[in-house]
Amino acid sequence: MNKFSRELPAGSRSVDEITGGRRLRRMRKTDWSRRLVRENRLTVDDLIWPLFLIDGENRREPIGAMPGVFRLSVDVAVREAERAVKLGIPAIATFPNVDMALRDETGSAILDPDNLINRATRAIKDAVPEIGIITDAALDPFTSHGHDGILREGIIVNDESVAQVTAAAVLQAAAGADIVAPSDMMDGRIGAIRDALDANGFQDVAIMAYATKFSSAFYGPYREAIGTKGVLKGDKNTYYLDPANADEAVREAEQDLAEGADMLMVKPGLPYLDIVRRLKDEFAVPTFAYQVSGEYSMIKAAGQNGWLDGERAMMESLLSLKRAGCDGILTYFAAEVAERLKA
Ligand code: PBG
Repeated sequence: MNKFSRELPAGSRSVDEITGGRRLRRMRKTDWSRRLVRENRLTVDDLIWPLFLIDGENRREPIGAMPGVFRLSVDVAVREAERAVKLGIPAIATFPNVDMALRDETGSAILDPDNLINRATRAIKDAVPEIGIITDAALDPFTSHGHDGILREGIIVNDESVAQVTAAAVLQAAAGADIVAPSDMMDGRIGAIRDALDANGFQDVAIMAYATKFSSAFYGPYREAIGTKGVLKGDKNTYYLDPANADEAVREAEQDLAEGADMLMVKPGLPYLDIVRRLKDEFAVPTFAYQVSGEYSMIKAAGQNGWLDGERAMMESLLSLKRAGCDGILTYFAAEVAERLKA
């Protein structure tokens, strides 16, 4: 045997006999044919850009664990919203880092019509009316203990927390939010918010349910961003989903839809692709994923270290979420991706 020849051992069938003549590489041969058979695409229309807010003016504060992401004062957030519109990004989602002096046991500052979220919504709506604004209806940025609910004797009390978040959602709608997104996983919150929005004349304000929010380690950098790191005592296992459970996630989504959710969200994203696919197949409603802070940080850090190609990993992770069934994705990469898609 010539040392350059590679032949199947005597007695083997030929490749054509093995495959029955089917050659799946045929369509992968050229760039044009790969493009022609491509099943999924990521476009700018898929992107929702989460923005972190802080008090003050002209502030752009770096977040250690999230290179390239900043806490923005409202005036700077307005400029970023303008940039988002120019890039074609359909919507932003705001998350406040609330002054520690304003945080208390029950998160009462969430009920201030002029709190940081509501001020930002008004300013952005006023300056950039063409962008969609999604607000986080959750207590954790406002509580002194970092939990998403009211804490009484070591227990996150469900119904009181729902009442507080519902009142906050109405204030957020009044400030101009297009979509309110309760992220606390309390039972009954979607129905309560829907009733209250309708009763207050906000029939057109939609609800994106953080339907399946898992108790995840991947939220770490976010807690630095909004200043709940070190503040949060214990874990969120009594209200967020167990990462081991998929059937329970389907029940949560079913319940939120029955209560009036317009859109479902799965959070985090990449570790939960199976959940995205199950929800999309089961309910066929607008389905979103939140590529969370830890997912962003992992890709950024590895990219910055030269351990992988950060840009490609960014695109591939988002495309994978599309393939799993997402209609859109909340991602800290939104502006970067939009720039890249434009180029
Ligand atoms: C809590 C909330 C979390 C995130 C957004 N809102 C999770 C948490 O801190 O427990 C995480 C977002 C991210 O990690 O990017 N209501």
